[in-house]
Amino acid sequence: MFPQSDFPALSQKFKNKPPIYLDNACMSLKPQQVINKVIEYYSQYPSCHGRTTHKFGLRTTEEFDAARIKAKKFLNAKSPAEIIFTKNATEALNLVSQSITLEAEESVITSGLEHNSNLLPWQELAKRTKAYHLIWECDEKGNLDLNILSDLLKRHKVKLVSLFHKSNLTGAVLPVKEISELVHNAGAWLVVDAAQSALSVNIDVQEMNCDFLALSSHKMLGPTGVGLLYGKLNFLERLPSFLVGGETVIDTEYHSMTKANLPDRFEAGLQNYAGVIGMGAAIDYIEKYGREKINSYIKNISRKAFEKLSKIDKISLIGDPEGGILTFSIRGMSSQEAARFLDESENIMVRAGKMCVHSFFNHFKHPEMLRISLAPYNNEAEINIANSAIEKIVKFFV
Ligand code: ALA
Repeated sequence: MFPQSDFPALSQKFKNKPPIYLDNACMSLKPQQVINKVIEYYSQYPSCHGRTTHKFGLRTTEEFDAARIKAKKFLNAKSPAEIIFTKNATEALNLVSQSITLEAEESVITSGLEHNSNLLPWQELAKRTKAYHLIWECDEKGNLDLNILSDLLKRHKVKLVSLFHKSNLTGAVLPVKEISELVHNAGAWLVVDAAQSALSVNIDVQEMNCDFLALSSHKMLGPTGVGLLYGKLNFLERLPSFLVGGETVIDTEYHSMTKANLPDRFEAGLQNYAGVIGMGAAIDYIEKYGREKINSYIKNISRKAFEKLSKIDKISLIGDPEGGILTFSIRGMSSQEAARFLDESENIMVRAGKMCVHSFFNHFKHPEMLRISLAPYNNEAEINIANSAIEKIVKFFV
């Protein structure tokens, strides 16, 4: 769907063959349009936002503010003030977890399938406040049952629920709108980790009715080291600042400060301007195709990949066939070795291990797995090559 010629990393050759990049859940590739925008900042207006009246500073301010408007539209937020730029989704989730407090009898809920970024901040919050941290448990294949969440919400005094939008292990997308009704009826807040969904699933924060949402630019074609937190205006207004410094204030005395308005209040110090502006270009690139079309493309190639893989002997596969994320193990073979073989033989890049969801693997005593994660520049030919290479592994090594 996305032309591979837009992605310079794919034009390389290793042993005369192109790379087959199937590790998109960890990091997406970057189109030339995004790379050009980052170079443009450093080569044409490498300056500070909002402080200066010279040409470079004005251009940085214009481009940085434009990126915020793009992010606001991308998520259908009500106001640009609801978009806080951060280092990544992890920092965005920490911003919330470090800024709020829970009473001793209150609870925070996460699912049994969260990656560390959406597990550890809440573990720490529970420890710090002596509140409870409850797990909405999944089954051994990662399936979650809404009735279990509903029951937890009925039986406990829950202050906050933080869940993935799309799982980095199963590719399943949670029905956030339905969940937000359950969570809000119980008087709790809903935080959504959209790290995996931002590239391929439509996100409308007003329709989802989540209170906070976090995402990372590096998984949606943008630069690394930048992400954002969306927060409903009235929630952000009540949240104390996590970090303070330049930009977060409009005036200071030796012993006091006057805090800036949103969103500046949460963006301490000079920002990753090139990263934010590059993320704006990534949003433009995605919007050119539209997430509806991207989603159906991913669903289609995912289904084909899933069917093929599930026919191979000795493969145990979990996940949503249409999720674009295929996590599997090869009985009798170490995942790390299989991943090395795929890379060395055919330049097929996949991830092996516990995919940052150690807690799920440890709870169910699953062995480490392999993961193929698809992006709109992947195609059926690549899937066929990967499938044959996996068949070879099973035939010759197991
Ligand atoms: N959470 C990221 C992944 O799934 C790093 O690979």
